[in-house]
Amino acid sequence: MYSQAHRGYDSTNRILSFFRDSSLRRLAAGMTLESDPSIVADLATGTGDTAIFTRRIAKERGLDTEVVGIDANADMLRVATEKAKNAGLSGIKFVKANVYKLPYGSGHFDAVSCSFSVKNFNDIDGFLKEAHRVLRRNGALVILDTSMPGTGFGRLAFYVYFAYMKLIGALAQKELYRWLPGSTAAFDRRRFIGKIRRGGFSSVRVSEFLFGIAYIVRCRKG
Ligand SMILES: C[S@@+](CC[C@H](N)C(=O)[O-])C[C@H]1O[C@@H](n2cnc3c(N)ncnc32)[C@H](O)[C@@H]1O
Repeated sequence: MYSQAHRGYDSTNRILSFFRDSSLRRLAAGMTLESDPSIVADLATGTGDTAIFTRRIAKERGLDTEVVGIDANADMLRVATEKAKNAGLSGIKFVKANVYKLPYGSGHFDAVSCSFSVKNFNDIDGFLKEAHRVLRRNGALVILDTSMPGTGFGRLAFYVYFAYMKLIGALAQKELYRWLPGSTAAFDRRRFIGKIRRGGFSSVRVSEFLFGIAYIVRCRKG
């Protein structure tokens, strides 16, 4: 699905997020860099936008943070590599690997981020376990994603958004965007936060955006 979608992926993302994805990525990247990490992994990096923001913001803050974007799909990584090159960025690289079995030793990273991917993983426990393993003690895990808000106006806004996603999916004529609305609606964020707490993470902080449809979770290992 990602190989089929990699070409128009960035522009479809902009449209699906009402052009808010960049500002959310910026915020998430800022949270990833809160404790001045030396090395960060952006898991399921796709076309690399969050990894690139992380490296850019690190530079703006005078940090020499190295960023490794990791994804299983070579086509998405090709786009990511090209974008980083065109932006003239150093200190960032992209690696093909499975997030459930990362080719790094325990405690290798000071921070781990993951954007717009968790709801689509078929083994969320496996993802959390591996993120926990590669993080050093007290290292930050930052997750940015969308889900259906529990109640109130957010829930109503989500149904409007759901219809919008379906329309974009039909127009895009790609399997990925036909599948996305259902997977977003089916994701149980509260259960996910519970898994994070039970998975050995603490200081869990949840921030909501766009009436609660988008959220960022920041937590620490240990
Ligand atoms: C919806 S895209 C999100 C990409 C990017 N993080 C973003 O914010 O736009 C999900 C990505 O997860 C990757 N992915 C899914 N399962 C994976 C796995 N087990 N290991 C590594 N990457 C995976 C896909 O290849 C795809 O690039």
